[in-house]
Amino acid sequence: MKTQGKTKKVGRNSACPCGSGKKYKNCCMSQEPKVLTVKEAYKNQYDIILKEPHQIEGIRKSGELLISMMDKVEAMIRPGITTNEINTLVEEETRRAGAIAAPLNYRGFPKSVCVSVNEVICHGIPGDRVLYDGDIVNVDITPILDGYYADANKTFFVGKPTADGQKIVNVALECLRLSIDTVGPGSHLGDIGHAIQTYAEAQGCSVVREFVGHGVGIDFHEQPQVLHFGRKNRGVELVPGMVFTIEPMINLGARDLHILDDNWTAVTNDGSLSAQFEQTIVVTDTGWESLTPY
Ligand code: MF3
Ligand code: CO
Ligand code: CO
Repeated sequence: MKTQGKTKKVGRNSACPCGSGKKYKNCCMSQEPKVLTVKEAYKNQYDIILKEPHQIEGIRKSGELLISMMDKVEAMIRPGITTNEINTLVEEETRRAGAIAAPLNYRGFPKSVCVSVNEVICHGIPGDRVLYDGDIVNVDITPILDGYYADANKTFFVGKPTADGQKIVNVALECLRLSIDTVGPGSHLGDIGHAIQTYAEAQGCSVVREFVGHGVGIDFHEQPQVLHFGRKNRGVELVPGMVFTIEPMINLGARDLHILDDNWTAVTNDGSLSAQFEQTIVVTDTGWESLTPY
């Protein structure tokens, strides 16, 4: 008795085994259950592009350029400079590296970098605003290098920090660190938001809800949205190859905001300080890695 054998695979264009006389592809092929790869399933269900190793490498290179620019920005920050001078540095360094500044002309954004001072939450447009001793200033850089996007930001002290400045910057940075530490295969997007919200609110601060982290790498803003508030075990399950930003915006006062007449600058309604930190994170087989480490 024969106990083993090869099942012959029916070709798309061969006669359907059901005997209909039609081609298999025009008949029973559509009835066969198709086993999707994780990559196909995440694309179909969530529109999330899981990255291949060579793509992660490309984003890492872009991230290295980003961090080299961030370090140069840090070195130039002192009382008396204008936010425009930061834009000029980012513009020149981006060109020197043969990269493109993603913010420039993005949905009409007029400059190469976002620079957000004190009560500005995000999307500050570089201009003639002068930095004063005691200010806090966030610089958000997004280069496109060889087609790959990396996105990160940091909040700096200008001169000697005030107690309020110190507090909000420390809380925002700790929110990013605690939330990154939740990342790994099997954890959920909601774990990230939960870590941020729990810590920020325990410190008497508030979490901005109108802006979110995002998938990144092949495009500036990809799926998924990464909320900075939420509940444990909710939302999409993380799998290796996911690349996204976490970028909590934390206010010293209330979370309410408005957008200025330039249609970009987001500011706190109560005028309180706001700080933000952002990194581009890849989910690995064992946890996470930052592609924009600092
Ligand atoms: N870099 C910002 C982010 O973290 C987006 C800035 S959009 C711009 O997603 F047009 F203002 F640059
Ligand atoms: Co971002
Ligand atoms: Co950014």
